[in-house]
Amino acid sequence: MNSHEKNMTDGAGALTRLCDLDELEEDEPLRSEVEGIGYAVYKVGELVFVTADLCTHGPGCLSDGLVDGFEVECPFHGGTFDIRTGAATSAPCEIPVSAWSPVIRDGAVFIDIANPLNA
Ligand code: FES
Repeated sequence: MNSHEKNMTDGAGALTRLCDLDELEEDEPLRSEVEGIGYAVYKVGELVFVTADLCTHGPGCLSDGLVDGFEVECPFHGGTFDIRTGAATSAPCEIPVSAWSPVIRDGAVFIDIANPLNA
C-alpha cells in the first residue's frame, strides 16, 4: 500500500483508493499501484475510468499509452482497448483488460478491486 491508499466500504464491497481526483490530467493516464498490482486511471472530460495497467498482450503499461477518445493505445505494440469496458479494440490485442467502474468520493478515485466490470 502506498500513501494514496485507504480502504473503505460503500456497503456493497471494499473500496480501494487509487489516487486523488486532482492528480489526474486529461488524456494522461496515471499509474496507481496497490499491493504490487498496477492500475491505470484515465480522465476524459469529466469522466474517470480505470483499467489494469498491464496490457493483456505483453509487457506494455497502459498508463504509458496514448489516449484517444475512449481508447488507449498500448505503447509496446500499438494494440488498443476501450477504457470504458476493457474490450480489446485492435490487434494485436485480443483479450480484454480488466476494467472497473470507479467511485469518486471525497475528491478521490476508488475501485472495488474484487469486482471488475468484465470479470
Ligand atoms: S504488449 Fe500491449 S500491444 Fe503488445
